[in-house]
Amino acid sequence: MRKLTYFIACSIDGFIGDPEGDAASMYPFVDEEFFEFLKSEYPETMPTHGRRAAGVDDLANQKYDTIVQGRGSYDLALRLDVTSPYAHLREYVASRTLGESPDPNVEIIADDLVGRVRELKAEDGDFGIYLCGGSQVAGELLDEIDELVVKTYPIVLGSGMPMFGSGFAVTEFTLGEVRTFGNGAVVRTYSRKR
Ligand SMILES: NC(=O)c1ccc[n+]([C@@H]2O[C@H](COP(=O)([O-])OP(=O)(O)OC[C@H]3O[C@@H](n4cnc5c(N)ncnc54)[C@H](OP(=O)(O)O)[C@@H]3O)[C@@H](O)[C@H]2O)c1
Repeated sequence: MRKLTYFIACSIDGFIGDPEGDAASMYPFVDEEFFEFLKSEYPETMPTHGRRAAGVDDLANQKYDTIVQGRGSYDLALRLDVTSPYAHLREYVASRTLGESPDPNVEIIADDLVGRVRELKAEDGDFGIYLCGGSQVAGELLDEIDELVVKTYPIVLGSGMPMFGSGFAVTEFTLGEVRTFGNGAVVRTYSRKR
């Protein structure tokens, strides 16, 4: 079994971006110290074009070899004419509207998202599955999530896009590692209580 990990950046009040999902207010917190952390422990969570721009596109995957994201998140790359934003991973994009995949490395999941993710989780392998988001897809996959890695930046947004676009339900997690950074960022890892 592979783990499904929702690795996500959010504000203190739990928003992953502004009401439209724009997370630009969080970018300044990826300073030198935080970038070093990402580079050494989660290099595969950085998009291929970002890694190339930073001159670190040869870093080996540390934790994940597969990414699942919704079309809303994938759109951010498409708007830059990037069709394979995580070329160093197997890419799955949930969409009922995209139809044919615009890239050979990207598989579109149009039907039975939960079932397809369960199949991916059932595969053998040492690497896990990176659930990138966004809110809607994370909400639909909440029951499948085994682990959370929450990068909390020291900002309050007041309103915005929630971490999970799902209805009210209490789901328990157990706190694991906590990392703090000089700029006030905190990265907490939680495993799901089953
Ligand atoms: N802070 C962070 O770390 C972070 C990380 C990731 C994303 N984000 C932000 O999140 C925003 C996007 O989130 P979002 O909630 O709007 O969108 P999303 O969850 O990324 O994608 C939603 C889309 O996924 C498809 N989808 C959803 N459920 C499906 C299902 N069961 N089967 C097939 N397709 C399904 C639909 O695409 P179709 O309409 O094509 O059918 C739907 O419109 C972006 O603005 C991004 O900036 C932030």
